[in-house]
Amino acid sequence: MASSDRAYELGFRSLDEEVSARELPVEGSVPTWLSGALIRNGPGSFEFGDERATHWFDGLAMLRRYAFSDGTVRYTNRFLRTEAYEDAESGATAGEFASGGGPLREALRWLRALGPPEPTDNANVHVARFGGHHVALTEAPRRIAFDAETLETRGEFRWNDDIPEHLATAHFAVDPHRDETVGYATAFGRQSTYHFYRIPDGSAERERFASVDAEGPGYVHDCAITENYAILVEPPLRIALLRALAPWQEGLLDMLEYDEDRRARFIVVDRDSGDLVADLRTAPFFVFHHINAYEDGDDVVVDLVAFENADIVEALGFDALSGDAFDAAPDGRLVRFRLSPETGEVSRSRQYDGGLELPTVPRAVRGRPYRYAYAQATDRRGANGLAKIDVESGTATEWWERGVYVEEPRMVQHPEAEGEDEGVVLAPALDTEAERSILLIFDAETLTELARAPLPHVVPFGFHGRYLPEA
Ligand SMILES: [Fe+2]
Repeated sequence: MASSDRAYELGFRSLDEEVSARELPVEGSVPTWLSGALIRNGPGSFEFGDERATHWFDGLAMLRRYAFSDGTVRYTNRFLRTEAYEDAESGATAGEFASGGGPLREALRWLRALGPPEPTDNANVHVARFGGHHVALTEAPRRIAFDAETLETRGEFRWNDDIPEHLATAHFAVDPHRDETVGYATAFGRQSTYHFYRIPDGSAERERFASVDAEGPGYVHDCAITENYAILVEPPLRIALLRALAPWQEGLLDMLEYDEDRRARFIVVDRDSGDLVADLRTAPFFVFHHINAYEDGDDVVVDLVAFENADIVEALGFDALSGDAFDAAPDGRLVRFRLSPETGEVSRSRQYDGGLELPTVPRAVRGRPYRYAYAQATDRRGANGLAKIDVESGTATEWWERGVYVEEPRMVQHPEAEGEDEGVVLAPALDTEAERSILLIFDAETLTELARAPLPHVVPFGFHGRYLPEA
């Protein structure tokens, strides 16, 4: 393998530098109507004292902010000041690293860190806004509030309710049509449960609207909404809690198993009544991310990025000996499931042939019929591309540049857009040849590059972010 094929390893190196509101040079031009900020989350450093993280998901949370105003781009990055951060600085976490065990055990240390006795506060996955609070999220039931302009850490954000929660979600479904955000929590017990809740816009309080018995329980990373329903997929990657008499003694990771004999389960609940509308099974697959969902007559259409099995979880780990990042992660596929609550049927079709991950759709179409999804294209030609997929036809417009690794794209509609795809796509990326990260801005209709803003350094590959028009 030519060394340049592993140039993306740059995106797994630790960053120390923090900069504040630095105006970036811009090649091309940033539309002047673009006014707001893209705030993203992800790992900033993989060093814990003398040890190095063994999985991409383990890196220390660092927020990044790209602010747009009058055609300029200003960039800020800042580590969350958490207990995990303080421990890493002092090297105190070294003793917590998995010792021995197979590669799966190594790769899944991140999942162990989510559970008791002390769930991690390393909130490195996503961001959300609840009322006036901007919050960094992970899958442990701990959240960290931050200042949306300076990215300074404000402290731990706690809910004021009694919803039982052992595993949280970092992926909330924001519904602009109903002015609320939907989330879920997994509570372990003799009978484990998924609790669904809403957070009305302007509020920072959760209201539980449904609870459904879990089977497994499954490792659930994301959810979807339609106009009337909330949807969870319970994949066959299960947390075998009853395997141990004292479940937390061994750690959560020791209880994970992918059961190929187990089918994937779609749970559909009514957002108003809380009723279980459908509880359907289909052939096994694994999923991290939903793309979108909507109602079509009596059917529910669910688009997601499906993997044949859960090998992706292990594949995103680093080599335990060399510390090298992965080079052979399986590709996800855009699969459309059509659920018929009346007949109990689940049909499955592939909408696009290319590999993809980190899919997003613009706010306005969430939970509604839609035409276009945007995603990182992962076919690995010494690059990660950007794909705009027409989910009706299964065709796509793609953008690729050798040596450039696109991260999660965010489509921002023009404030007076008439067409669904009228606006821009913001795509952070790593430019391995220039050895720095960049922010790419595309015309969303054509994926024509409008602007490219080089950052002062390489930012490790991140996970998810949101565009906030007012921030
Ligand atoms: Fe995610």
